[in-house]
Amino acid sequence: MYHPFHSRWPGVIAGAPARRFPRVAVGALAALITALLLGGCGGSPSTLDADGPKGVHIATLWWVMFIISVIVCVVVFALLLYAVFRPRRPSSPSENGKVDGTALVIIGGALIPGVILIGVFGFVLYTMQVTASPARPAVLTVEIIGHRWWWEIRYPSLHIITANELHVPVGQAVTLELTSADVIHSFWVPQIQQKTDMIPGRINTTWFQVSKPGVYTGECAEFCGIEHAEMDFRVVADPPARFRQWLLLQERPAPQPVTALQLRGEQVFLGSACVYCHTIMGTNASGRIGPDLTHLDGRQSIGAGVLPNTIGNLAGWIANSQAIKPGNAMPPMALDSQDMQALLAYLETLK
Ligand code: CUA
Repeated sequence: MYHPFHSRWPGVIAGAPARRFPRVAVGALAALITALLLGGCGGSPSTLDADGPKGVHIATLWWVMFIISVIVCVVVFALLLYAVFRPRRPSSPSENGKVDGTALVIIGGALIPGVILIGVFGFVLYTMQVTASPARPAVLTVEIIGHRWWWEIRYPSLHIITANELHVPVGQAVTLELTSADVIHSFWVPQIQQKTDMIPGRINTTWFQVSKPGVYTGECAEFCGIEHAEMDFRVVADPPARFRQWLLLQERPAPQPVTALQLRGEQVFLGSACVYCHTIMGTNASGRIGPDLTHLDGRQSIGAGVLPNTIGNLAGWIANSQAIKPGNAMPPMALDSQDMQALLAYLETLK
C-alpha cells in the first residue's frame, strides 16, 4: 500500500508514533526563535541603511544576493516537498526513466547553479571594481591607528591629532591609511564602507565618502581582546565650510586656562601621571600612549564611545576607568575632591 513516508527512512519516520509536541508549542518556539534572531537586525548602524557611493554599492550587492538566495531556497524547498509528498503509483525500478533523471541532475544540479554562481560572482567583481577608487580624487588623507581599545586619528598634512572621532567633509572622498599599534583591529563604518583590517607594521589604504551630514557609528570588526566590543568611534560628516572651521579649531593649541580653579587644574594635570600618556598641545604634556586631549571637550564621547562626554562621566572615568572599561590602559587616579574639581574645570576648557 502507498504511504507517503513508507519505509524510505526505515525506523526514522515509517510507523512513527503520534507527534510528541503539540503543534501550538512548536509554533510558539519557532516564533520565539525568529523574534530573537530578528532582534539582531534592529538599530543602527546597519549596512542596509547605506550612505555614500561605496555604502550604496555594498548594500545593493547584499540585496541582489539576498533576493537570489530567497528565490533559490523557495524553489529548492518546493521541489523537495513535491518529491516527498507527490502521490506515487507503485513502480518497478526500471520504470524510473534513467535519461530523465540524468538530465535533471545536469540541468538542476550543475547548469542552473553554475549560471547563478557565475552571475553572482560577476556582480561581486563589478562591485569590487566600482568601489576600488573614488570617482573624483580624494581631497584629504587621514591616518588611523588602532590601539587596544581606541582610535588615534591623524590629519598628517595639517598636523592634527585627535581620537575616536573622525571628522570629514560631506560629498568628498577621503583616503584612509589604516594601521595598528598593537594587535589586529578592523575599521568598519557599516553604513559607509567595508571592513578593512588594521595590521601592525603595515598600512592598508582605503577610501570612503559620506553623502549626508550626520554622525555615523563605526566599530572594530576584528576581535582584539577583552574590550573589543567597546571599541567604537564616530564619523562626523559636516558640510565643507563647517568642516574647515573644525580643522581651524583643531590646528590651534589648547586654550589657556583663565580662572584660579582652571589654573590649579592645569597644575594637577601637569603634576600627575597624566602627562606620561596624554598630549595637550601648548603644554609640556606630550605622552603618546593614550588619546591626545588637546580638544577633549569638543568630542561627543569618552572611552572610545563608552560614555557621553559629560563632566560627571569624565570624573568617573578619571577616578576609576577600570570599573567602566576593565582592562584599558588607564590606571585609577587617586585625586582628592578639590584636585578632581580643579582638573575637571581645566579639562572643560579644552574646547
Ligand atoms: Cu579592536 Cu576589536
